[in-house]
Amino acid sequence: MKTYKIAVIVGSLRKESFNLKTAKALMQLAPESLDLELVSIAGLPMFNEDLEGNPPKEWEVLREKIRNVDGLLFLTPEYNRSVPGVLKNAIDVGSRPYGKNSWDGKPAAVVSVSIGNISGFGANHHLRQSLTFVNVPTMAQPEAYIGGAAALFDDKGELNNDSTKDFLKNFMLAFEKWVHTNA
Ligand code: FNR
Repeated sequence: MKTYKIAVIVGSLRKESFNLKTAKALMQLAPESLDLELVSIAGLPMFNEDLEGNPPKEWEVLREKIRNVDGLLFLTPEYNRSVPGVLKNAIDVGSRPYGKNSWDGKPAAVVSVSIGNISGFGANHHLRQSLTFVNVPTMAQPEAYIGGAAALFDDKGELNNDSTKDFLKNFMLAFEKWVHTNA
């Protein structure tokens, strides 16, 4: 199978983020055909259409990175039952200028990670709503809602739960097929 470049986008800026730790675990568990790279959305100026004439350098960097990948892996916390503003801002920045949507047609998967029991369900589905509009075919099954995240990692930040590891490994195999079919 050919190798696919995948941008991994994490909707938390926290150094000790459980979403970031899960992203790193997914990168280790992924099949070889997926070449995964963390794409930072920290420091991305808030979207303002007035700036499109002379867009901030950070917007251009993100747009270019997204244009150059074959697929997208999103990890999102849930803030107040929705997607953190920083992640929604990244979606908005990547979707413009009008007619130059960087996300267009890139196959994706969504993982939500929370310390709570509802496992980021609200954020997971709000993100899917935006991804539909920016024409990102998003893997339907398996869904990935990772709850109780505070208990899943050791003090080095490594995933230490075998059943979660198995689940995430299978999730990445399904994502590989999804990318292969839709890239
Ligand atoms: C939260 N948290 C949270 N959790 C949840 O399951 N549902 C929610 O609606 C919210 N709302 C919320 C709002 C705000 C502003 C904060 C800061 C936090 C808790 C959240 O899941 C927890 O902080 C995670 O650890 C955040 O993910 P990272 O940063 O660990 O990846």
